[in-house]
Amino acid sequence: MNQPDSLPAYYDDLALSFEEAWGHITAGVTNRNSPSHMPVIGTVDAFGAPQMRIMILRNVSREERTLRFHTDTRSTKTEQLHHNVATSVLIYDPAAKVQIRISGKTQFSSQGDVANTAWSTSTPFARRCYMAEAAPGTPIAEPSSGLPTWIEGKQPDEAQLADYRENFAALLVKVETIEWLYLANAGHRRARWYWDAGQNVWAGCWLIP
Ligand SMILES: Cc1cc2nc3c(=O)[nH]c(=O)nc-3n(C[C@H](O)[C@H](O)[C@H](O)COP(=O)(O)O)c2cc1C
Repeated sequence: MNQPDSLPAYYDDLALSFEEAWGHITAGVTNRNSPSHMPVIGTVDAFGAPQMRIMILRNVSREERTLRFHTDTRSTKTEQLHHNVATSVLIYDPAAKVQIRISGKTQFSSQGDVANTAWSTSTPFARRCYMAEAAPGTPIAEPSSGLPTWIEGKQPDEAQLADYRENFAALLVKVETIEWLYLANAGHRRARWYWDAGQNVWAGCWLIP
């Protein structure tokens, strides 16, 4: 006989579900094994077509309602993200049976404090991808990493990286809504919260799953 699920404290508690949702999101920054570490980021291209890709979650500020990602200023997604555009972030944690759908607007930052700090606090290996000689997505005749051959398999030092800083940008997704779906045999639970800018509070309610 199937055992009923043992239900978590947040199952029927909207405020606790909200805490749980933020807990999942923030865990993605420090826990590389958390599914929140590699969410799917959705944008819309110039033709109105949805475009999705995995990106590493680098920082979360619940207070500022921001999620930070890093990318190459020459990438295709950068064109789509330049003008404070709608962005979605999708997380599914199979062990927790939780899906989180975030929507917001992206602030593109290739200069200034946010980008400078994000650059200087990234590891040299992480920053090596910005040394690609041509823009990501450029067609090439032979398979290649796109990196200069002298740096392949090596860790660059600060002086070698300095010339490539201009290829780096931080993307800050300003969160506007968070949707929660918890799967349970006893009955799924779904909720959504939106940032009420007039009241400066998160407002949420349960939804039919
Ligand atoms: C595990 C994983 C992590 C990735 N992390 C990033 C990232 O942090 N930033 C990024 O720009 N691309 C990252 N990528 C590559 C993107 O998914 C995508 O292929 C690339 O950025 C090109 O996307 P675009 O054509 O939409 O610009 C990652 C891919 C994988 C599989």
